[in-house]
Amino acid sequence: MISSKLPNVGTTIFTTMSQLAVQTGALNLSQGFPDFNGPQALLDAVGRHISAGHNQYSPMTGLPALRQQVAAKVARQYGVTVDADHEVTITPGATAAIFCAIHAVIRPGDEVIVFDPCYDSYEPAVELAGGRCVHVQLGADSFAIDWQKLSDALSPRTRMIVINSPHNPSGALITRAELDQLAALIADRDIYVLSDEVYEHLVYDGARHASVLAHEALYARAFVVSSFGKTYHVTGWKTGYVIAPPALSAELRKVHQYVNFCGVTPLQWALADFMAEHPEHVEELPAFYQAKRDLFCGLLQGSRFQFKPVAGTYFQLVDYSAIRPDLDDVQMSVWLTREHGVATIPVSVFYQQPIPEQRLVRLCFAKREETLRQAAEKLCAI
Ligand SMILES: Cc1ncc(COP(=O)(O)O)c(C=O)c1O
Repeated sequence: MISSKLPNVGTTIFTTMSQLAVQTGALNLSQGFPDFNGPQALLDAVGRHISAGHNQYSPMTGLPALRQQVAAKVARQYGVTVDADHEVTITPGATAAIFCAIHAVIRPGDEVIVFDPCYDSYEPAVELAGGRCVHVQLGADSFAIDWQKLSDALSPRTRMIVINSPHNPSGALITRAELDQLAALIADRDIYVLSDEVYEHLVYDGARHASVLAHEALYARAFVVSSFGKTYHVTGWKTGYVIAPPALSAELRKVHQYVNFCGVTPLQWALADFMAEHPEHVEELPAFYQAKRDLFCGLLQGSRFQFKPVAGTYFQLVDYSAIRPDLDDVQMSVWLTREHGVATIPVSVFYQQPIPEQRLVRLCFAKREETLRQAAEKLCAI
């Protein structure tokens, strides 16, 4: 008998729902990935770099040209200077960045505060490092930080707080004022911050993303993670990065060196070229995804689902209590997939202790207009 190090980990709901979508021929609005391609110039650049022989290991910390592009983008977006050599590390996806950041600083017995509903990759990484996640629930409707609950959860063992804005699955944003409040709360404590900002460019209605990179006090103790997969519509490339002050980056790189060594070389070359040639891509992303959100939400007005258009990310939560209050959200997701041809993600899987009366499923609108129209038609017919 194998004694599992991760006894509570099984097949994730994302895999299960995507498989069910394939089996039943349902439209897959469950897992978070686009059903359209990345920019052609970016795709072409990969082939060019493979043919040019850029196929061997890149430097462990990432291709210098790409790290410089990341630093340039950060300067443009957030008005801060980060050192491309000592603060930016390219990783095989944000997931690897998260794993390495946690393993760089978490020791057996340490506690890591995460906010529920919570993305699923934090807890296994913490457990493998010998730590323990302390789950703090966000507001049931607002998905905002409950400061009393957070302050109650702090203990002398708290070593890290993980924040995620724009937030998966709710789309909620952490404001600059909330970052200030967090900084004040942990000012006198030895606590690191892991800021998962993979949806940093998916912010709507004229709002600006409040990055930890632009918060001096928090950044001094932070790992800030992002994902080229999300930003350039190429989630399968699994290429991301982490920005942290030099001393933290040095510790993170010790782990990254032996988990990944480096990211995929031709993809890094292609991303560096594309970022240099098309800095406008990230500027245009909010409008690009906001148009999808508005189209989808507009069409769903004709349904019995209740919702408030999201502030960020490419996920829309919808409340189905007017349709099938008798079903919990896992049953509802299966029912929607099998009976109505639209695969969704139940929100309860993002909680350690789901809220029993919550009736929410998550729909991904990173889809072509045609897919969104077909999905909305099916959802409006229920
Ligand atoms: C909140 C959050 N963090 C991290 C990731 C992982 O990003 P990557 O695919 O670059 O590993 C995802 C992907 O869905 C996510 O939603």
